Amino acid sequence: MNTFTSIKQLGDLKKALEAAKYVTANPFADKALGQDKTALLVFFNNSLRTRLSTQKAALNLGMNVMVLDVNQGAWKLETQRGVIMDGDKSEHLLEAIPVMGCYADIIGVRSFARFESREDDYNEVILNQFIKYSGKPVFSMEAAIRHPLQTFADLITIEQYRKKERPKVVMTWAPHPKALPQAVPNSFAEGMSMTDFDFVIANPEGYDLAPEFTKGIRVTHNQDEALEGADFVYAKNWASYEHYGEVLSKDRSWTVTKEKMALTNNAFFLHCLPVRRNMIVSDEVIESPQSLVIPEAANRVVSAQTVIKMLLQDL
Ligand code: CP
Repeated sequence: MNTFTSIKQLGDLKKALEAAKYVTANPFADKALGQDKTALLVFFNNSLRTRLSTQKAALNLGMNVMVLDVNQGAWKLETQRGVIMDGDKSEHLLEAIPVMGCYADIIGVRSFARFESREDDYNEVILNQFIKYSGKPVFSMEAAIRHPLQTFADLITIEQYRKKERPKVVMTWAPHPKALPQAVPNSFAEGMSMTDFDFVIANPEGYDLAPEFTKGIRVTHNQDEALEGADFVYAKNWASYEHYGEVLSKDRSWTVTKEKMALTNNAFFLHCLPVRRNMIVSDEVIESPQSLVIPEAANRVVSAQTVIKMLLQDL
């Protein structure tokens, strides 16, 4: 593997979950693999979990780690080719990326959807420039339309907690005051399509995800019906794909409350975090014994370490 931008690049999910299990049990077994190798983690957007868990994963593999916050301390970057650079942007991405490539053995990139152009976001213009011009293996730390390291952690968590071969997993939209990207739900749907779980997406009208991510998946606009008998409830907000980037609803009847969870099969609750309490999920649900948000976040180290290990093995 020499890039990691989609959960599908893991190939055989069963083998990838076995690899993750090994990393969980033996976090320091591969320290020699990363010795004298450098991971550069480039952030165009804020992060808590990805920033810390990816650093921890690389350190566990014996790597040196450098973190660059592009918007805090680096030159302001122009990303469009052909622009006359007479404004406030001092450096072009087309020089900055190969320079970064000179300093690193692998590069992680976080670059969210900008909601300026659906086409640009869905073509992953920033991430793909890193892949094209850095000359180094690139992995996504959440890009415009996918967050595969999160999805892998979600799959690892479900694997650890599921009590049946084929659990019912419901991903439900929940309200949020701001427009959020579709990267997490797109990626989660992609991950679920690699399993044979009973997977349902519940969202209000106008919030259907891009057809490329929902092909063959049951989508309903009735949250209560979807939650019936669920073994796992994955809550997430996303902005509209159809009316791209718009917030069409803040309907709090979609908040995941204990009344909603009572419809389920005593389901486990999942969320990638950060989460807005009492918008997405009630205090009671996120604090309940069924909430897996902390083990899920802990598994971000396992997810990143398993993926970086695969990248290092193929250097
Ligand atoms: N879930 C996740 O990616 O968290 P951060 O945005 O804090 O990295």
